[in-house]
Amino acid sequence: MANITVLQLRAEAIAALTAASDQVALDIWRVEYLGRKGKLTGVLRGLAELSIEERKALGAASNALKSELEAAYDARSDELRGAALAASIETGRIDVTLPARPQRRGGLHPVTQTLRMMLDAFRSMGFSIIEGPEVELDYYNFEALRIPADHPARDMWDTMWVDHEIDGRRPMLLRTHTSPAQIRIMEQHEPPIRVAVPGRAYRFEATDMTHEWMMTQCEILAIDEGLNLGHMKGTLLEMMRRLFGRERKIRLNCSYFPFVEPGAEVAVDCFVCGGAGCAACHHSGWIEMLGAGMVHPEILENMGIDSKRYTGFAAGMGVERLAQQIFGVDDIRTFYQNDLRMLQQV
Ligand code: DAH
Repeated sequence: MANITVLQLRAEAIAALTAASDQVALDIWRVEYLGRKGKLTGVLRGLAELSIEERKALGAASNALKSELEAAYDARSDELRGAALAASIETGRIDVTLPARPQRRGGLHPVTQTLRMMLDAFRSMGFSIIEGPEVELDYYNFEALRIPADHPARDMWDTMWVDHEIDGRRPMLLRTHTSPAQIRIMEQHEPPIRVAVPGRAYRFEATDMTHEWMMTQCEILAIDEGLNLGHMKGTLLEMMRRLFGRERKIRLNCSYFPFVEPGAEVAVDCFVCGGAGCAACHHSGWIEMLGAGMVHPEILENMGIDSKRYTGFAAGMGVERLAQQIFGVDDIRTFYQNDLRMLQQV
């Protein structure tokens, strides 16, 4: 009787093992037949109730079966692993002769590239980079820069107002230039000051080839003892040379901005024609690039900076304007039309 149980169990176990088709099924099988509460252990437990002879015979038979099933388990496990490996080699087969798919990498926008070149140049001259808010108070954008509400100089900046008319609130606007950051910096820092402020500015004006209602500017401000126009010129010349080549020259023309005295319009010699005159420079040999000047002493005093001891220079440049020159873009509007045919060329 005992041997019949072992024989039956053997047949059942071998059949189940053959049917197990993956590792999970194998594990379940192992627990069911060879586990501590498994069927084979169940047979061994029953030995106690048998006579000595029967016990001997059945004990030997079930021990032999245990070894046999363990070996069968190992063999089946190896077999399944081999089959799985062969299948994965088959499905994972790659054709190494296929041509590679081109990697379509994104690129930095030409305005971003230009701005980074400028900031690298200023950083190497000891300027730190900071930013200011795009929604600005009238006070910082105009008042504190010596452009009072009724002053005709306001006409230089057509303004997009956020809440102009609301009583009891300070009028707010989209900053028309990055110059308000000058005031914010002077409020918070003592000289010596050397900062560059990149950011967007907005103008309420019709767009054409050279004007957009939104533009990127970069402001610089330096305040220290003994700074003069020569330092300003040297700083701007170095920046232009970094962007447009070591042979570049710059020209300063007198200009008016309420927050500087004297004020200047800065032009770079045309690097297309080298100054001889061509379409890029409108046959003048020079390309107007930015506004600059010595910080008005009245502003220094208003900000609590002793204008007898300290002087400063400031400049503001339109980044698109410089990017147009670097990348040969005629129409400023194409920068923000997001036409890939244009963007992929740079
Ligand atoms: N903020 C002026 C503008 O956007 C440009 C400018 C001119 C900035 C002279 C300056 C400066 O810092 O000194 O039109």
